[in-house]
Amino acid sequence: MDHKDLPPRGSFTSKFGVIAAAAGSAIGLGNIWRFPYVVGENGGGAFLVVYLLFIIGIGIPVMMSEFVIGRRSLRNPYGAFKKLAPGKPWFLVGLMGVGAAFMILAFYSAVAGWTLEYLFQSVTNAFEGKSSEELTGMFDAFREGSIRPILWMLIFMAMTAWIILAGVQKGIEKYTKVLMPLLLVLIIILDIRAVTLPGASEGLSFLFKPDFSKITGKTVLEALGQAFFSLSIGMGTLITYGSYIRKKENLANTALSVSLADTFIAVLAGIAIFPAVFAFGIDPASEEGLVFITLPKIFQQMPGGYIFSLMFFILLTVAALTSTISVLEVVVAYFIEELKMSRKKATILAAASISVLGVFAAASWGWASNLTLFGSNIFQIMNFTSANILLPVGGFFIVIFIGWSLKARIAGDELTNSGSLRGRYLPAFMFIVKFIAPIAIAMVFLYKLRVFGN
Ligand code: PFF
Repeated sequence: MDHKDLPPRGSFTSKFGVIAAAAGSAIGLGNIWRFPYVVGENGGGAFLVVYLLFIIGIGIPVMMSEFVIGRRSLRNPYGAFKKLAPGKPWFLVGLMGVGAAFMILAFYSAVAGWTLEYLFQSVTNAFEGKSSEELTGMFDAFREGSIRPILWMLIFMAMTAWIILAGVQKGIEKYTKVLMPLLLVLIIILDIRAVTLPGASEGLSFLFKPDFSKITGKTVLEALGQAFFSLSIGMGTLITYGSYIRKKENLANTALSVSLADTFIAVLAGIAIFPAVFAFGIDPASEEGLVFITLPKIFQQMPGGYIFSLMFFILLTVAALTSTISVLEVVVAYFIEELKMSRKKATILAAASISVLGVFAAASWGWASNLTLFGSNIFQIMNFTSANILLPVGGFFIVIFIGWSLKARIAGDELTNSGSLRGRYLPAFMFIVKFIAPIAIAMVFLYKLRVFGN
């Protein structure tokens, strides 16, 4: 293929670099902040079972599909569909992805801002001696403030833009592959502390003992949305990263490793949170505040808690950064390739315009708290719409595209590296992307809309 018409593309330079970048995108606040509170709101173990089924049956095939589209086309999501299906409306899926990127980056940066606030509070040892109620009050008071949540959001956005300016190799790869393993170690330490708290077992049962009577249309939709959000799929992030993957890498293995690592971290985060939630009498349905109330309680109960809490919030910030750079890169790659901007101009324009939305997300419990729809504030609307609607709809069209529009030979070619890998799973993969995954996604929506079932 000839790519002289394109600006020079970077690429990930090692196998570990690819996995680290994609896992860096997948692993983030979605695992540590979002997963526990969504599990808590949706009744625990049964949600976890549905979630895992969606990761395997839908998530991994969608991720493989995105890698195929990206590496085949060597383009941003919009350009990728234009190139692989010229003259057809598939590019709209790419455009929807760019729109989802705007929304996700806006509210995600607000949460990353909360993380920075908590890092700052860790430095001053502000959690010490506080009861669960006091910690809840502290979180609420901070979030209702008019300046700090916005300031931290903007600082975080600037950090993201700064890394993206450095470009693919110097920026993304370098930052992702060093710090992720450290985060894993820290979460395991937190797990050990949490499960040895008196009263921990109730939390473990909550997380691992499924009570299927708790499953409703909402639960199933939220499990699907969480699976998409956590794996960074459905909006072209992994199409974009796929376009930076070298031809010799194994796409299916990469998707599998990334999904495994992502799920593992989410479950480990759940193991840290729920035992502590029950041990300290925190409400498992504390919504977006759950980890920000629970974690400080765990740190209080640890020898060296001060240092651990500092390290944890630093690493969580880094985990958030390796996710936000992947989201911003979608928009930036689109601006560079389709609107012919320089990387610098594209980055500044994207970060600045998303920040405007981000201000509203960050102020959603403060001065913008009156702006609500069906009882949800702006942050909650962006969170719900992007994860539970835009990403699954995007994923639906991505698997339909691979299953029904793109020539089967092309997907086979990409997944086997032109026949040099075996790919014995290919018939099963094609069956899933043609039938299972799209039907499953459609059924979740129908179930939620009460077309059948409860
Ligand atoms: N997967 C990220 C997380 O779990 O924190 C969030 C995310 C990144 C969502 C990139 C979507 C995306 F395209």
